[in-house]
Amino acid sequence: MEINTSTIVSDIVKSNFKTAQLFEKNSINFCCGGGISIAEACKNANIDVNELLSEIEQVMLDSDPDARFVEGLALDELADYIVKRHHSYVRENIPFLQMKIQKLCDSHADDNPDLLEVQNLFNQIAGNLTSHMQKEEMVLFPLIRNLVKQKQAGTGTTQSGAIHGPISVMEREHEAENERFENIRALTADYTPPANSCNTYRVTFDTLEDFEQDFHRHIHLENNILFKKAMALDQELAN
Ligand SMILES: [Fe+2]
Ligand SMILES: [Fe+2]
Repeated sequence: MEINTSTIVSDIVKSNFKTAQLFEKNSINFCCGGGISIAEACKNANIDVNELLSEIEQVMLDSDPDARFVEGLALDELADYIVKRHHSYVRENIPFLQMKIQKLCDSHADDNPDLLEVQNLFNQIAGNLTSHMQKEEMVLFPLIRNLVKQKQAGTGTTQSGAIHGPISVMEREHEAENERFENIRALTADYTPPANSCNTYRVTFDTLEDFEQDFHRHIHLENNILFKKAMALDQELAN
């Protein structure tokens, strides 16, 4: 992939997910709002575009088998993959993280009241993501699987445009949770525990950071690949 200042951020991540770390490090959002050029993103983040481009080129030298695997999946397979890989991860980790954050608040909220706000934000994320994933699994993903079936059957579509509304709702919800993660990041100084802090602090912040990174990949796969391709297929079947 040829990359220059006008290449779109989400396209770079799509071709090699390892570049996501670079964007994260530079506070450039690639999953929500990744549809802008690298030049514009660097301008917004106040960083040198040429420096970032050369770092990206370095990372791109390592091929990303994951990107090729995801790119090779049919849309229904990609929806299944997202449920198995990311929805399961979210469901498994919410109770563990809530328990760890509670423990952290019990011991340290007196000294660091920001932890209570972190807890509040994470509880909102947990509740919202749970119902968000349910909507995807019950409404949007079945509509996408239907499009694939209709394409295979060569029958044209009986649900033209039906995915538009659910997709824009899902994208708005991604954006809202992404903002909550940004607030958690600000409150925890990018998940840095205070000096000499106990193990609970470290484990909780590390797990929270892993959870946020998983969220970014999850949303990237949906916004930039699954939803985009589903919209194109919907259009193709309508013609
Ligand atoms: Fe999802
Ligand atoms: Fe989603």
